Amino acid sequence: MNFAETLHTNPIFDVVARQAAALDVRAYVIGGFVRDLILKRPSKDIDIVCIGSGIDLAEAVGRELKVPVVVFKNFGTAMLPSGREPDVVTEESKPVPAGPTLGWEVEFVGARKESYRSESRKPIVEDGTLEDDQNRRDFTINAMGISLNENDFGQLLDPFGGLEDLRRKTIRTPLSPAITFSDDPLRMMRAIRFATQLGFDIEPDTFDAIVEMKDRLAIVSRERITDELNKIILSPKPSYGFKLLYHAGLLDFIFPELLLLKGVETIEGKGHKDNFYHTLQVLDNVSERSDDLWLRWAALLHDIAKPATKRFDPKVGWTFHGHEDLGAKQVPGIFRQMKLPLNEKMRFVKKLVRLHLRPIALVKEQITDSALRRLLIEAGDDLEALMNLCRADITSKNYDRVKKHLANFDKVERKLRELDERDKLRNFQPVITGELIMEAFGLKPSKEVGQIKIAVREAILEGTVVNTLEAAIPFMLEEGRKMGLEPVKDLISNLNSTSAENTH
Ligand code: CTP
Repeated sequence: MNFAETLHTNPIFDVVARQAAALDVRAYVIGGFVRDLILKRPSKDIDIVCIGSGIDLAEAVGRELKVPVVVFKNFGTAMLPSGREPDVVTEESKPVPAGPTLGWEVEFVGARKESYRSESRKPIVEDGTLEDDQNRRDFTINAMGISLNENDFGQLLDPFGGLEDLRRKTIRTPLSPAITFSDDPLRMMRAIRFATQLGFDIEPDTFDAIVEMKDRLAIVSRERITDELNKIILSPKPSYGFKLLYHAGLLDFIFPELLLLKGVETIEGKGHKDNFYHTLQVLDNVSERSDDLWLRWAALLHDIAKPATKRFDPKVGWTFHGHEDLGAKQVPGIFRQMKLPLNEKMRFVKKLVRLHLRPIALVKEQITDSALRRLLIEAGDDLEALMNLCRADITSKNYDRVKKHLANFDKVERKLRELDERDKLRNFQPVITGELIMEAFGLKPSKEVGQIKIAVREAILEGTVVNTLEAAIPFMLEEGRKMGLEPVKDLISNLNSTSAENTH
């Protein structure tokens, strides 16, 4: 197979070929880029391996293209940065260096041969051939190279049958899986990640080795594990990856809270649904609607507190009262454990977990404007995401039941939209602030101030008072009077002059 024509469409390969020839080293494009080229998938990064110094070649290419080169002396590698932000941000993500960039990240490494001395865990790393380098890679589909050398430019070099494995949709290690996984135990997760992203099977010997060696994952940093987990979550059908993680025995180690959802308990002939499989179904449903990693995390965590809140009531059967609030409380701990960012993304997930039952509850109740208003205000700008999660949460084996539920849900959504347009409540702030209440009654911060504030807010939500100063000030004064407070300032006559000022 020859890829010369395709490679010529990206000028970077001609530059690498020219500079490699000038330095008298052989160079190959290798790994994920080759795999994605054959699969006709878009690829982002280019890995170049050369028989010689990767750093020298990178510097020569950087000089010709006039782009900065980042050198990692300790690893003997160098790269031309892409300028893109990383897809998935964990706490350890590298900063992107300044300067003109190619839009591609190009990494250069010299081919290496690694051997393990039996008396030491430390590998001896020596310069090696292309085959040595291919031997050390994770999977056959990631071990293919394409020559960038004059005599055979564009030629595919595939010593382990990677092309055939792509055709058969198989993830397989190039060497015996025990060797490949010992080199880097994260590869056990990568096997599952690639299977999930590509919809491939894991070859049985490779899978059995994961089951056997799963404990080795303990030496891998949590950031690298979470990176792979996020890639599984961002795949077209993430449930497949979670089922593989479960069957391989890895889920227990990386995400024990999720595993607790598994299983069905039956008392007096009444069972509840298996919340593990339900959660995976919700995750897949949400993934059909949105690529957002954090919405997908919210789907994964929406029922996370069900095991802790599960009760059996002989009259009504199984209940999980309060699982939404307890689940929201568990989100920061899980994010911390996973080394996920503890910022607004975490707060978004927490909010969705806390609110995930609210729209469904509205389907069952007589819908009042006040219940809808409360939801609009609490969800704010995350309302669409919340509605997406709730639709995804309607799972049942009974197709008619799902259809009926979704139709009711359409009604709730329509009403919410109407109310939103009419009342503009999305990012609602009551006009009556604590400061205004204190000014009106000459109060210091106190319980009374809070009570009046809540009363005003409730009246606005119930629709008995409009959210304007003209309507809300008299109401606030009345509430104060009911509590035995007397106004010390004439806010009503001030109002006209204030609103006149505000128009300027
Ligand atoms: N690789 C490996 N073992 C690892 C990580 C990477 O052998 N633990 C090799 C593989 O040959 C892989 C290449 O390094 O193809 C590049 O790694 P990476 O960028 O992580 O993966 P890609 O295959 O490029 O895929 P993606 O961009 O989807 O992560």
